[in-house]
Amino acid sequence: MKELPLQDGEQVLLIDQRGKRHLLFLRKSETFHSDRGWISHDAVIGQPEGSWVRSSMGLRHLALRPTLAEFVLDMPRGAQVIYPKDLAMILFWADVYPGCRVLEAGTGSGALTLALLRAVGSEGRVITFEQRDEFARRALANIHMRCGEVTNLTMRLGPVEEGVGDEEPVDRVVLDLPEPWRLTQAVARVLRPGGIFLSYVPTIIQSHQIAEALNREREWALVETFETLYRPWNIEGTSVRPFHRMVAHTGFITVARRVMPEEGAPAPRLTASDRDE
Ligand SMILES: C[S@@+](CC[C@H](N)C(=O)[O-])C[C@H]1O[C@@H](n2cnc3c(N)ncnc32)[C@H](O)[C@@H]1O
Repeated sequence: MKELPLQDGEQVLLIDQRGKRHLLFLRKSETFHSDRGWISHDAVIGQPEGSWVRSSMGLRHLALRPTLAEFVLDMPRGAQVIYPKDLAMILFWADVYPGCRVLEAGTGSGALTLALLRAVGSEGRVITFEQRDEFARRALANIHMRCGEVTNLTMRLGPVEEGVGDEEPVDRVVLDLPEPWRLTQAVARVLRPGGIFLSYVPTIIQSHQIAEALNREREWALVETFETLYRPWNIEGTSVRPFHRMVAHTGFITVARRVMPEEGAPAPRLTASDRDE
């Protein structure tokens, strides 16, 4: 499919010579306009992905299918999305794999849901809870825009604490909501032993609260909190230096493993520093 030339009806990213990005759907006979001139969609349809097309002002634009990261940064938002640097870490640290069953809350704009849907694949399932109707609708619209009809998603409208008890066991729980520590006991009941819990929160106060809750409860071990600093570099001739600006702080990720509770004391505290580097 992806070797096919760019098609009528599909989404394309046009990047002009300044690096400015324009995400649009290709439609026969329509025209794209910007301050760099106009481009007929017909000039893009039928071209191989990665082609250069010229605007009416003679300026080159690169035509590519958007990656998921590019789509997520450009898609309409209701709630604040998780940025690609954190989405990438979440998928690996929650160890989301094809066929995996993931319980997610809250859905927000659907950025994390999209990343999870792709990682679990057609054999897996993402069950996502969102308590605000308008955000759920926004997320579904974004998911349909990116993927068309999906068969591996269950959207639950309402607070996760009210619905989680009715769910079948899952392999992973991923939370992006303000008070995850209120949910650790409820999600421990649906997360299978050995499963992974991951929480994403913007402040260290919240991280502290979720880590404390997980360390206190006997159902959890290997509690670990980190953040990701992504620092792009400018590498151009003799100008080899970090960019002046970077997306530094976004959020903190806390992960824990669901373990079989032993009678008596909480699980011995094993942390990242106990891991072989
Ligand atoms: C920061 S947004 C999530 C953004 C999302 N991860 C993304 O990448 O697009 C947090 C969402 O959690 C929802 N939420 C907060 N508490 C909730 C709860 N108890 N149950 C379900 N959804 C909840 C909010 O309505 C909001 O849409």
